[in-house]
Amino acid sequence: MIVFILIRYVDLQSNANIFILETGNRIATSVTRIGIKKATSDISCASLCSSHGTCCSAAYDIEKNTCFLDSCCNPVTEAFLGALVIRTNSKKDKLNTSGNNRLCNLAYHRQTTQSSVYDNSGVFGSPCNAVDGLESQDFYEGTCVHTNKEFVTWWEVDLGAKYTIKFVNISVRTDHSSHYERFSAIDVTVDALYCGYYTGPPLLSHIYEPITIGCSEGITGRFLRLTRSVHDTFQFCEVEVFANLTVCPGPPEPWTCRDLSHEPCV
Ligand SMILES: *[C@@H]1O[C@H](CO)[C@@H](O)[C@H](O)[C@H]1NC(C)=O
Ligand SMILES: *[C@@H]1O[C@H](CO)[C@@H](O)[C@H](O)[C@H]1NC(C)=O
Ligand SMILES: *[C@@H]1O[C@H](CO)[C@@H](O)[C@H](O)[C@H]1NC(C)=O
Repeated sequence: MIVFILIRYVDLQSNANIFILETGNRIATSVTRIGIKKATSDISCASLCSSHGTCCSAAYDIEKNTCFLDSCCNPVTEAFLGALVIRTNSKKDKLNTSGNNRLCNLAYHRQTTQSSVYDNSGVFGSPCNAVDGLESQDFYEGTCVHTNKEFVTWWEVDLGAKYTIKFVNISVRTDHSSHYERFSAIDVTVDALYCGYYTGPPLLSHIYEPITIGCSEGITGRFLRLTRSVHDTFQFCEVEVFANLTVCPGPPEPWTCRDLSHEPCV
């Protein structure tokens, strides 16, 4: 008998995933399988999938304590007693493009640095907040970056290897107009090569959508930097750096960001 149950479970790392579990089912062996790992529970299998850069769904064999990771969000499944299928409903779905080529966000959980870190009564604007995968655009939720006021401010991410960058998506602060109104005059460079420029500021009607800055054709590098040459602070909430690859690299593990104080959902 196949029983469907719906479980809402927020992943500790990304605080953003919702998993749908189907018991009595497993993912049929296919070309989209990307890994087989030991896992002590369905929850740890879901965690393995969520922390893997490419995983979109997983199957857990309860008897063999084995977790099968799959890159396809809607894989072919088959009835199998003592197994269950875990589907994520994460941001990764949006990155699934057709064929073998997919857009990969290379910045997620990578090492970051910036010109200075602003502290407002214990709420920090650490650079890691821009690659935490959290969608909040409210600085006071601890998910945005914020430098001190300087003549030139910058933020940088180490992508871990050289890639040909397509474009960068940046989410601005929406908690007060004075913040997104100052998101302007931004240079994007990759290994100090010019990639793109954003004049800004964004229109009020567009602040809940990311700002896209395209990269000049064929610019390749490992260190992507955003520079603001205005005597001011530099503030934003999320940066996603996209390249078009066959297989997305998994994020490095473990990843910590001192500003993350998010508790698991109850
Ligand atoms: C992801 O891409 C594959 C391959 O093109 C496609 O079959 C599948 O339906 C896509 N999944 C989603 C959720 O878009
Ligand atoms: C990725 O590359 C493939 C083949 O080169 C191309 O068909 C596809 O449109 C590209 N996707 C993006 C988002 O650039
Ligand atoms: C990047 O931002 C644009 C503009 O807001 C949006 O339409 C697009 O879906 C984003 N791309 C990805 C891959 O998230």
